[in-house]
Amino acid sequence: MDCLQDWPEPVVRVQSISESGAQSIPERYVKPPSERPSDTSVCGDSGGAGIPVIDLSMLGRCSQTVRAVSDACREWGFFQVVNHGVSAELMRRARAVWKGFFHQPMDVKQRYANSPKTYEGYGSRLGIEKGAILDWGDYYFLHFRPLTLMSHEKWPSLPPSLSRATTDEYGRELTRLCGRVMRILSEGLGLEEGRLGAAFGGEEVGVCMRVNFYSKCPQPELTLGLSSHSDPGGITVLLVDDRVKGLQVRKDGAWVTVQPIADAFIVNVGDQIQVLSNAVYRSVEHRVLVSATDERLSMAFFYNPRSDLPLAPVPELVTPDRPALYQPMTFDEYRLFIRKRGPRGKSQVESLKTVE
Ligand code: OGA
Ligand code: NI
Repeated sequence: MDCLQDWPEPVVRVQSISESGAQSIPERYVKPPSERPSDTSVCGDSGGAGIPVIDLSMLGRCSQTVRAVSDACREWGFFQVVNHGVSAELMRRARAVWKGFFHQPMDVKQRYANSPKTYEGYGSRLGIEKGAILDWGDYYFLHFRPLTLMSHEKWPSLPPSLSRATTDEYGRELTRLCGRVMRILSEGLGLEEGRLGAAFGGEEVGVCMRVNFYSKCPQPELTLGLSSHSDPGGITVLLVDDRVKGLQVRKDGAWVTVQPIADAFIVNVGDQIQVLSNAVYRSVEHRVLVSATDERLSMAFFYNPRSDLPLAPVPELVTPDRPALYQPMTFDEYRLFIRKRGPRGKSQVESLKTVE
C-alpha cells in the first residue's frame, strides 16, 4: 500500500474556501460540462416517481415488506425506510453533534486530518491522482467494526464527550438496522434469511461511517458535492439533511432527486451485494449537488463484508442460464480502486465481469 502514503498535493478544506467569501470556485472544482448538474443529456424526470418508501413496522407480519424491498433493490438499488426502529431523537442528536464538529475552529478539525493510507479522520478528497478535479465537500471517516480497527482516539471528542457517546450509540443502532436489512435482502432473493450475512463473514463484518459536509458553494452549477459513484461495500444507510436536498439517483439514464422524508433513512445496495446476488440486486450510481444558499450534512453508514474474504455470486443464484457474472475478489482489494482513483461511476464493478 506504499502508493497510498500521502495526498499528492496540499489539502485544501472546501469549508475554508466557502467561508473565505470567494465569489467563484477554484478551477480544481470545475467539472467538465457532461458531469455538471444541468447536463441535459442525462437529466430527465422520471415522471414524478421517487425512490420507493418502505414501512418496516409490518415486517414479519406481512410478506409485502420483503417483496417491496426486493423490488426496490432490483429496480432502483435504493429505497427509503420509515418506522425503522431507530429513535428520531438519536438521529437528530447525531446530526447535531456532527454539525458541531464541522463548526469547530479549523485548528481543532485539523488535529484529525486524514491520510489516504486508512482514510480515517477529517478529509477533503477521495483518490490520490495528482491534478484530479475535486468534489465540493469535506468529510469525516471512522470505523466501528472490526473492533481491531475501531479506535475512539480517532474520533473527535468535541463537542465535549457527548459526541463519542452519541456516535457509539448511533453505531450500535445502525448496525442492528443493517442486520435486519440484510435478512430482508436475503429473503427477497429466495434465500434463507442469514444467507447474505453468512457470505459477509458472520460476526466479522466491517462497519464504518462517512459524515459528509457540503459547504455553501458560490457556483453550484459548475461542480458536485460528490461525483457519480456506486458504493463499493455491502449496504449503505444514509441519514440526509432534514431540510436540504442534494442526493440524486440514476434511474434509466436520468438523475432523480431524492425528496427527504422526516425521520427516514435512505438505504442503498452496494457493489458487494450486486456481486453476491449475481446482479439480481443492483448498486446504482448516485451523486450529490451543492447549493449556493445552504450547507448540508449527511451521514453515510456502511455495512461491509469481512475484508479478507473473496466474494463471488452465491452458488444458489448461479445456474446454467445465468452463470456467475463476477470473479471472486476480496473487499480489501476492491476498495483499493476507489481509494486510489476516487469516485468513477460504476466502472469498478463492471471491471469484475467474467465475460463480455
Ligand atoms: C456517500 C454518498 C450521499 C449524500 O457518502 O457515499 O453517496 O447525500 N452520500 O451525501
Ligand atoms: Ni454513496
